[in-house]
Amino acid sequence: MDTFKFIHISDLHIGSDPGRLHVWDYLRVVAHEKGYKGVPGLVSDSFYKPTSHDDDIAHKLARFIFENQEDVDLLLVSGDIARTGVPADLSAALAYFEGKHSHQVPFQTGERMPTLAGAGLSLFLLPGNHDRYANDLGVPAGNHFDAIFGRYWDTGIRGTKTALLRHSDADDHLAFIAADFSLRSESECIGVPWFSRWGQGMAGEDTLEELVEKTKDHHEKGHGVVWVCHFPPTEPAEFTLRLNRWSSVISAAKECGVEHIFSGHLHRCGTFEESGIKIICAGSGTAFLERAHGNWVHTITVEVEKTNVRILNKSDFRWNSSRKAFEASV
Ligand SMILES: [Fe+2]
Repeated sequence: MDTFKFIHISDLHIGSDPGRLHVWDYLRVVAHEKGYKGVPGLVSDSFYKPTSHDDDIAHKLARFIFENQEDVDLLLVSGDIARTGVPADLSAALAYFEGKHSHQVPFQTGERMPTLAGAGLSLFLLPGNHDRYANDLGVPAGNHFDAIFGRYWDTGIRGTKTALLRHSDADDHLAFIAADFSLRSESECIGVPWFSRWGQGMAGEDTLEELVEKTKDHHEKGHGVVWVCHFPPTEPAEFTLRLNRWSSVISAAKECGVEHIFSGHLHRCGTFEESGIKIICAGSGTAFLERAHGNWVHTITVEVEKTNVRILNKSDFRWNSSRKAFEASV
């Protein structure tokens, strides 16, 4: 038996231009909130651009992760890392993970930009729908993510990827297997495509087959397995955020005995259950003006005994905008 600890963040929406708010997100927040640049209106040049990150929260998240790195085996990032899949946004997001840290302030670069590199954690990530936007209009299947994040994700749209954890003094293994369920084209949407393409995903058969095959392979070796999907496989309140064919993911998880799926996408911190499968959903780490559902970082400890995986502890830390800090949520 062994335990593994990881930090789970999601939906950072890092962009080349922080503090942007998409008009649809704008409609969710009170109109008197200050600090945004993306004023809706036909004369604005930015109201239609997808929401980016809050620069202040990004700094504090980098600091939080640096200060809470002790005994952490992995930093898990479950998608929507960048605002869009255009190179400027993806490069800004990559710099957030890899920017060379200063020696005096290890969670900042010499130019005082936030960076997670100083924490030195192993990183496991997958793309979300935003990372696959080909442009500011949410056209799916952008192809820059694998080029810019190729050190972490090189299996393309609808690929799968595995991270295997093992401590040198123990026999038990924990495999994180991630599946990219991003859209390959607008035709996979349900509803009006130009509207649904922004937030829907598709649990494609080929991706699921690969996920199941890899899982069975690890189980045969006696490894514990959890899955990571940006889109939680459950029916969301908003059909525009739906993972199409989500129930096939639950059926596949049941078929191969996976009990935990780590997700993001909904920008809500919570755990859902579908047919006994736990879907652990991270809130948004740094999305701008995410006042309704908050900004979050999570620490999770799991116990693994051969193929059995159990969550021992999950601590949720919510951004407190008055105190400018992530604080334990009770
Ligand atoms: Fe998101």
